[in-house]
Amino acid sequence: MCGIIGIASSKPVSINIINSLKKLEYRGYDSAGIATLKDQLINERKCSGRVDELEKILLKSPSDGNIGIGHVRWATHGIPNLINAHPHSSENVSVVHNGIIENSDELKKILEDKGSKFKSQTDTEVITLLITEALKNMEPLDAVFKTLKDLKGSFALGIIFKDFPDIIIGARRGSPLAVGYSSNENYLGSDSYALKSMTNKISYLDDGETCVLTKNSISFFDVKKNKINKKVHIVSDDENISDKGNYKNFMSKEIFEQPITAKKCVNEYIDSLKKDINILNFPIRPKELKKIVLVGCGTAYHSCLVAKYWFEELSSIEVEIDIASEFRYRKIKFDPKNLYIFVSQSGETADTAAALDICKKNKVKTCSVVNVIESTIARNSDWVLPIHAGPEIGVASTKAFLGQLIVLYILCLKISSVRGDINKSNYNKNIENLKKLPDAIKKTLTLETNIQLMAKEFLNARGSMFLGRGSSFPIALEGALKLKELSYLHAEGYPAGEMKHGPLALIEEGLPVIVIAPKDKYFEKTLSNMQEVIARGGKIFFITDNKKDSISENIRFGLRVPHLDNFLSSILLAVPLQMLAYHVALLKNCDIDKPRNLAKSVTVE
Ligand code: AGP
Repeated sequence: MCGIIGIASSKPVSINIINSLKKLEYRGYDSAGIATLKDQLINERKCSGRVDELEKILLKSPSDGNIGIGHVRWATHGIPNLINAHPHSSENVSVVHNGIIENSDELKKILEDKGSKFKSQTDTEVITLLITEALKNMEPLDAVFKTLKDLKGSFALGIIFKDFPDIIIGARRGSPLAVGYSSNENYLGSDSYALKSMTNKISYLDDGETCVLTKNSISFFDVKKNKINKKVHIVSDDENISDKGNYKNFMSKEIFEQPITAKKCVNEYIDSLKKDINILNFPIRPKELKKIVLVGCGTAYHSCLVAKYWFEELSSIEVEIDIASEFRYRKIKFDPKNLYIFVSQSGETADTAAALDICKKNKVKTCSVVNVIESTIARNSDWVLPIHAGPEIGVASTKAFLGQLIVLYILCLKISSVRGDINKSNYNKNIENLKKLPDAIKKTLTLETNIQLMAKEFLNARGSMFLGRGSSFPIALEGALKLKELSYLHAEGYPAGEMKHGPLALIEEGLPVIVIAPKDKYFEKTLSNMQEVIARGGKIFFITDNKKDSISENIRFGLRVPHLDNFLSSILLAVPLQMLAYHVALLKNCDIDKPRNLAKSVTVE
């Protein structure tokens, strides 16, 4: 993961580097660092904590210079500490790196045999020392190209040179890298978001490409060092990007923004006049589609799982789903009649991007459901369906999950209707219900006070279970993921009917068990499974969209969300689970927006 930034300017750059690093913290927050060049000296400032910490260090001990690089780390090689924090510098070169050098041990050995001394346990330091070696008899660009040839793995790099104080070299293989243009100032960054406060003119490096920045120029090179031109994109302005408003943290803001997310998304895709869904330009005509393959990671994978139930219920189409890190290594029989859909909030998740690349190599049609439309996954897919959620800053995905579900549901309705799998009156009814979704989410959010009380019951728990059947099973998985990533409490999501095949052994007196039971065809079955848990001492937290009287005495806590239809209930039932995870984490004083060991964008394998 990690975030990198570089600025070449005619004025001091450290303040802008710090501001950009704050925006890149979603990529990692194990440590932060900056290196600037002044009077032919590389000046490093680093800390083992967050960017705020680094900013304090810089206030006490400023680091001037009109050229510099910065880094936020998500540790891969070497524990998160000061020594392993980037940049990694020799006397002549300073490097920031996002990605993994797979042959770093081998390269380290070769360098050590030649007398190089390593200070850190990182894979990055081999890059610094290889470039330092090469610079003994080469110009910077040649030295970088020579080094790149030795590296295996995926990376994005930013490099400055003591003896060449005007240039920053950037290189991309696998991990994303963008450059930004301004007057008397140019930029390098892991994404356009980090550069947005400085410029909206962006070019994206493709795999194998390298760039050389000065304050007045940017040159691009392909893998063979031929000069190339790159397209300049004008990126959109996002409103309220980094403003928490009156909320304690981004996650609570994002949870409460969900009625707006839903409204925006529904308005974008539903043509109210024509009473139709305005999804056009299908890469394969819906009637000719043989199969839909949905791929994602984490929460995005859960939205694929929910969509599978919807497609199966509403359409005649076959659906397959997979976790991207599995998909990319399977021996898949690709079929040009299939549509391969990649779901990703960030659009930068390495496993999802690699799975998409494999599809492209096999010449099949791809679609991405993304939040960041300038992202790698969006740019690389044949067809993009944006979720219009706006920037999601909290590491735990909330409003993006909601957006993914809405877009997948809308796509499912459209495909089902074009194929003639649902009749016009049902299609219209489903669209009308969708329009009611924003208000129903608003009502669901009023459950917060009850959820705060419920959260207290999790404080002394040793673990918890989330159960559901049908499309409530992936919602159970998502509820469990939210709770574990935010509150560090062990949580498992299970299909309720599967409990007796093993996990029932975990039930003991007082274990919190969240039962998700909308009034659908599984309702009675789920209630029976719940009784099996009650009989063994489980403490039940029951979430339904059914009538109040279905919340019986044996239940410790009951919550009821509004009922729209059996499809949209999945979306509504996810909301109280987000709030539950949030409040348990708040009571446990956990870092809500930046849970330990995680990052918002997972750009390593
Ligand atoms: C969600 O709360 C997680 N932080 C995580 O599972 C996330 O959904 C996953 O890493 C995929 O990210 P993406 O949507 O940006 O591809």
